[in-house]
Amino acid sequence: MVILLKKILGVVGSYRKQGNTELFVKLAMMEAEKHDLKVEMIRLTDFNFKPCRGCMACVFKAAKCRINDDFYEFLNHIEHADGVLFGSPTYILGPQAQFKQILDRFLLIPQHIDNLQHKPACTVTVSGLKGWHPLSPVLNLVVLSLGMNLLDSIHIYGPGPGQALLNEESYQKAIDVGKNLALAIKGEDYDSFEIKKAPNSCPVCDGELFTPIRRDKLQCALCHTRASIVESNNQQLGFTLKFEAESLKHHRWTEEAMVHHIEEWVKATEHMYLGKLEEINKLKAQLKSFDRWIPRSTRKKSFS
Ligand SMILES: Cc1cc2nc3c(=O)[nH]c(=O)nc-3n(C[C@H](O)[C@H](O)[C@H](O)COP(=O)(O)O)c2cc1C
Repeated sequence: MVILLKKILGVVGSYRKQGNTELFVKLAMMEAEKHDLKVEMIRLTDFNFKPCRGCMACVFKAAKCRINDDFYEFLNHIEHADGVLFGSPTYILGPQAQFKQILDRFLLIPQHIDNLQHKPACTVTVSGLKGWHPLSPVLNLVVLSLGMNLLDSIHIYGPGPGQALLNEESYQKAIDVGKNLALAIKGEDYDSFEIKKAPNSCPVCDGELFTPIRRDKLQCALCHTRASIVESNNQQLGFTLKFEAESLKHHRWTEEAMVHHIEEWVKATEHMYLGKLEEINKLKAQLKSFDRWIPRSTRKKSFS
């Protein structure tokens, strides 16, 4: 009798072989394997992603993306996994660029959301320095925009390849992530997991990027969750963020909000645009002949 094991996928976003990202994804995957899961890993730097061309065919024509690159191959891996761990190094305050290229394809994700919806996912980000990774939660937006359930996101520190392994707490975090993700894949109830979140981070994206919207109120810049600043005995800050339950239910990355955004706003821009096309074309014509491009053939190939 063949037993089909459920599958967990580790996505390594660093080019560095045996770098911190790879090592910590591996730690989590080794733990997950103990829970009778099939473990597979991919290295994102093996994939070729081209930039979105902004043609909008995925929205206005419900067409497949016309770019000939590895995006669908990547999506295929995600669709065939029962849960995913995404890992990225921090490059200039946030995740490495390929994750942003994936996020840029977000407008076509609703075509695939049925196959991805509610699959558990976790993220691990690595940075060299504390306080130098404010955009790490952008990696969590990859998970959320794919319609997956973000179970946990951890951040670890270590500048040199493998250096993060010296920190026992980080080690344990990776093992916990592997275990929690494995249990979630096997159907364990999410509420039973003990996941430590930073006290004042957004409960949806785990980020700390807030926009003030009133004297005592902040909004998560990434998710649109809202929180009041309430005095508390938090020893360091003297305040705590109390998140509004309604805003947690209706944040930017819920399926309803994403579909609504595309159907009611993005699609509506076509009509708005066509209605003004004559006027826009007249204005565009004034700039058309301004041609100061450096011809590709004469561009300097080397840096000096
Ligand atoms: C191009 C580049 C940019 C980086 N930018 C940051 C940064 O903004 N903040 C930070 O804390 N570390 C930064 N680092 C350090 C890496 O995040 C760190 O070395 C990490 O361990 C790399 O993970 P890896 O070993 O999996 O590649 C940068 C490293 C490189 C190569």
